[in-house]
This record gives sequence, C-alpha cells and structure tokens, in this order.
Amino acid sequence: MSNSDLRPETVAAHALRAVDEATGAVVPPIYTSTTYARDENYKPKLKENYVRNGNPTLWQAEDTIAALEQGTGALLFASGMAAITTLTETIPHGAHVVAPDVMYYGTRDWLKRLETLGRISLTLFDPRRPGALAAALQKGRTDLVWIETPLNPTWDVIDIEAAATASHAAGAILAVDATATAAVTTRPLLLGADIVFHSATKYLNGHSDVLAGVLVTRELNQRWSDVAMLRTKMGSPLPPLESWLLMRGLRTVFVRFRQCSANALAIARHFEKHPKIERVLYPGLSSHPEHAVAARQMTDGYGGMMSILVKGSFDDAKRLCTRLKVIVPATSLGGVESLAEHRKSVEGPASPVPDNLVRLSIGIEHADDLIADLEQALSGL
Ligand SMILES: Cc1ncc(COP(=O)(O)O)c(C=O)c1O
Repeated sequence: MSNSDLRPETVAAHALRAVDEATGAVVPPIYTSTTYARDENYKPKLKENYVRNGNPTLWQAEDTIAALEQGTGALLFASGMAAITTLTETIPHGAHVVAPDVMYYGTRDWLKRLETLGRISLTLFDPRRPGALAAALQKGRTDLVWIETPLNPTWDVIDIEAAATASHAAGAILAVDATATAAVTTRPLLLGADIVFHSATKYLNGHSDVLAGVLVTRELNQRWSDVAMLRTKMGSPLPPLESWLLMRGLRTVFVRFRQCSANALAIARHFEKHPKIERVLYPGLSSHPEHAVAARQMTDGYGGMMSILVKGSFDDAKRLCTRLKVIVPATSLGGVESLAEHRKSVEGPASPVPDNLVRLSIGIEHADDLIADLEQALSGL
C-alpha cells in the first residue's frame, strides 16, 4: 500500500513511515548533525548537506504535513511568524494585499507595518459582510489574499471556496491560515487555496512545548521556490530537535483534535444561554452566523477554539480568567490543556476585539471539569 492510499489518520500516526529503514526503530531518528560529509566524488549523499538548507528530520515532518494537507510541498519554519514574514517577502514591491479586519493580531500588525513602510498597499475587509472580500480585490493589482478561518479570536468562518474563486478571478493567490482547523477538519488546498499556513506551535504539535510554523503549497511554482530560497537566506528553518518533537505531537493530532472538538461543543452548548454570558462565539453552534459554511467546510468537528462575551466590563472579563482553577490563564492555543485569555489586554486598546471577550482554547480534559471550573469562576463575577 502506498502512502497515497492511506487515510490521513494513518499517515499522521506513522509520521509517514513508522519504521526507520536503516535500523528498524519504530520512532523516527533525530538527525542533529549540522553538516553532512561528501562522498569520494565530492558529492553530498543527501539533496542538502547543511542544516539550514534542510535535513532528514525536518523533511520527514514536512512530508507528513504535506501529505495531510494533500499539498505538493511543505516548508517548516522556526515559528509561525517566521513562515508568514517569509511569505510576505515574495509580494512584489507596491502590490496590493487583502486580509480580514479581525484576525490573529500578529499577522495584522505585520501587514500594517509593511503598508506603513510603503512595501504593500493593504485592504482589510469585514468578514461578516457578504461580498466584502470580493469588493476589496483590485484586478491585476492584488497579489495576495490572506484569510484565516475560523478567525482568531471571534471564530468567524470564511468560505474558502468562494474566496479562492474571487482571488483567482482577480489574478491573486489565496493563502489560508488554517491553524484552528489543524489539518484535520478542513483541507484548504482541496477547496482551491494556493497556500496553507499553520502555526504548528498550536494543534499540530499540541503539547505547548514547540514553537514552529509551516507553509504547504498546492503547486510547485516560482513563488514556492522563492519561499524555500528565502527560508535558507533568512535562516529560519525549524531545527531538527523541534522537527522531531513536532512529529511526535503530530502522530496524535486526530485523536486530540476530535476530543477538543467534542469538549468545546459541550461547553459551548452549556454556556450558550447562561445568565452571566452575553454570547458564545463557536462555529459549531447552530446560532453562529456562519454555521452553514462551517458545517460544509469543517468536516471533522469544529475544533477546540471559542470565545465567550461575558456580561460585564473589560475588568470583569479579565477577572474571570484569574478566577479559573483548572483552565490556565495563558496565551496560545491548541494544546492538551485548556487555556483562557482576555484578548483585549493582550492586543491593546486599538484592537477591534470586544472588551468583554475571553478566548478559550479547550483541551482534552473531562468536559464536566471544564464546565464546573467556568461555572465557579462566573459565579464570583
Ligand atoms: C491564528 C494564528 N496565526 C499565526 C500565529 C503565529 O504563530 P507563532 O506564535 O507560532 O509564531 C498564531 C499564534 O498565536 C495564531 O494564533
């Protein structure tokens, strides 16, 4: 059976090939060497002979992620932001970029910086307004459409297929930040996206102990060669130890993600009509404004990410986080342990995120313990 016949759960569990051909080891080896000897004809044994250009541990992790996303190539970086900033280096000087106005604030800040420097022109669209993405495009001028779905931290859902059609009609490529869907429930490349991005720090690794980012491409083209070249020149590949740790996490991504999804759905339903909560933002709820798109596009659960709008002020929302005893008040997401964060405190006063929003990354604990923890924290507000 070739890898292409295998289901994604099997590909992930084996990290492509569970048994090392040289030794029979069932766990992939870690190649920590920074350099590789040449043979008697002065030829390198591998396609690369210096660690910054690539190495076998990195390649195994990359090939596994490319197979999960059904892409033709993947490149791992030392962080999610390293992947994003490398991709934006490929935008021609002065070209136009389109992105949602609510999104991971690190990406938005970076795009705004490029705009301030005169490197790009930028249009931020309202993802809740139908047709806003298409209206933001400038035919022949827009180079890159960057979307995130579901959007961090409001968890609005963007229709990838529609975004791809509109982007391509304008001559732009579509890149999708799919961090919240973990290469489990949505496959953006099959819906027409050109590039998929993950902060692999989140679900792909899943244990809050590795910083990593990945880009996956639908086509091996000039832009992709440029991204690979830039990663080497800017010096940001994921090192071997981190690549190996990421692969260890990746092997359980399906079971983790499904448990996170089941827990999150139970919590969202429990708190949807809670007297101390104004709204629960979760794409799995039928009350979510883009639930129909989510149901079509998220085929294996709605993930573990949600936000709650507490009935109260900036300070009340912040106080909720400090009152939690099981859920940890910390940033980041996609780990096995549940985390809570008051986003406005992190993003600052200029952020469009509501003052009373608390972001929850739901982990794999027992859902009843998480519900009880949120109940006791809310009771003190
Ligand atoms: C949706 C999303 N995209 C990108 C990033 C940036 O990734 P990293 O922190 O791995 O650099 C994050 C980090 O929180 C994120 O949540």
